[in-house]
Amino acid sequence: MLIRDAHFVSSNTQLAACPTPDRPEYAFIGRSNVGKSSLLNMLTGRNGLAKISSTPGKTQVINHFMINDEWYLVDLPGYGYARVSKSSRADWGKMINAYLTRRENLTCVCVLLDSRHPPQAVDLEFMEKLGEDGVPFVMVFTKTDKQSATRTNELVTTYLAKMGETWDELPRHFLTSSETGVGREELLGFIEEVNR
Ligand code: GTP
Ligand code: MG
Repeated sequence: MLIRDAHFVSSNTQLAACPTPDRPEYAFIGRSNVGKSSLLNMLTGRNGLAKISSTPGKTQVINHFMINDEWYLVDLPGYGYARVSKSSRADWGKMINAYLTRRENLTCVCVLLDSRHPPQAVDLEFMEKLGEDGVPFVMVFTKTDKQSATRTNELVTTYLAKMGETWDELPRHFLTSSETGVGREELLGFIEEVNR
């Protein structure tokens, strides 16, 4: 897919304030620092479009980006960041839950997983919840440039085997690197196919 235009639309903490749900929407979610904002920049080819930081917890609001005037990409705040107070974690939960279960144009959630780590309870639980709520999602493994392809494949195989213990049908998965652009065509191709 050719990205002709990608621009920031709005930041919100309330579902009701999000843009009119009049086109397909894809949201990035995952642990703090997993690389959501970086992936958004890599996919759109616009460095600096979404704010990146080596400090976890950079993204705190629901950020909408309009792509080609046809679909929305959404950068969500990460979960599982230890240095966050209980009350802000509860606020996060409320905001994200409302967004995930009530955003009517939400076409697919991309759950980002660090390709270097074995399955983590917080991610598995998050995907379980998506399944229970009937929210369509795919798994996106990030930062594959940080290790050998062999190591990535081993970890992904382990991950899928773990998912196979609870899921009858495995969700689709993608391997990506925001450093090298690996996975860009595959993920954009998937979005194009679903949008059609
Ligand atoms: P929060 O908004 O805090 O939840 O984080 P995020 O998931 O948006 O992560 P972000 O994109 O800000 O990236 C976190 C750190 O990981 C930054 O230092 C990025 O440069 C780095 N990073 C992200 N993706 C990649 C990747 O594919 N390869 C490498 N080598 N580094 C990456
Ligand atoms: Mg971010």
